[in-house]
Amino acid sequence: MIKEVEKILISKDEIKGIVKKIADRINEDYKGKQVVLLVILKGSLLFASDLMRYLDVDVTIDFMQVSSYGSGTVSGELKILKDAQTDLNGKNVIITEDIVDSGNTLSMLNDLLQKRGANTEICSMLSKPARREKDVYIKYCGIEIPDEFVIGYGMDYDERFRNLPYIGILKKEVYGG
Ligand code: PRP
Repeated sequence: MIKEVEKILISKDEIKGIVKKIADRINEDYKGKQVVLLVILKGSLLFASDLMRYLDVDVTIDFMQVSSYGSGTVSGELKILKDAQTDLNGKNVIITEDIVDSGNTLSMLNDLLQKRGANTEICSMLSKPARREKDVYIKYCGIEIPDEFVIGYGMDYDERFRNLPYIGILKKEVYGG
């Protein structure tokens, strides 16, 4: 464990079990169908790459990178930093995220993709219900976590720590919380 981590919240082995369970459900739900795994950069890179190893449905991948501004009563705006390259109209799209926090990003992204004609479902490794502002339906949710600053397995603090193979709680002294 690195010195910036307070404690390991989800170990490498636990992650493997969680990802496998999600994959089993997707394999069952999309049996005989085509599906696009839409990887939302950067955080879901590790989760999505592990998940797709376990998928045995007819799957393709595409990538988007977005960020959201505004929360609560302020109407939010979704900034598209990188758009998908394929036409998602009429496709079964599984939006793959590392974490749903306020829900603002996923709520706006899901609306956008549905307007483009995609048949979407949300898949997130983590969910932090305590921080929710927008109600989003996460069909495939790995695990709910408490309101802590988590890093690793794709998630960063100031772009660092995405490479950790586990999900850890960042020490408060690192981010001044
Ligand atoms: C994170 C995460 C989601 C979003 C969730 O991305 O990957 O996209 O924040 O937050 P919300 O539910 O409050 O909208 P981030 O903007 O940190 O970008 P990154 O994945 O590149 O680190």
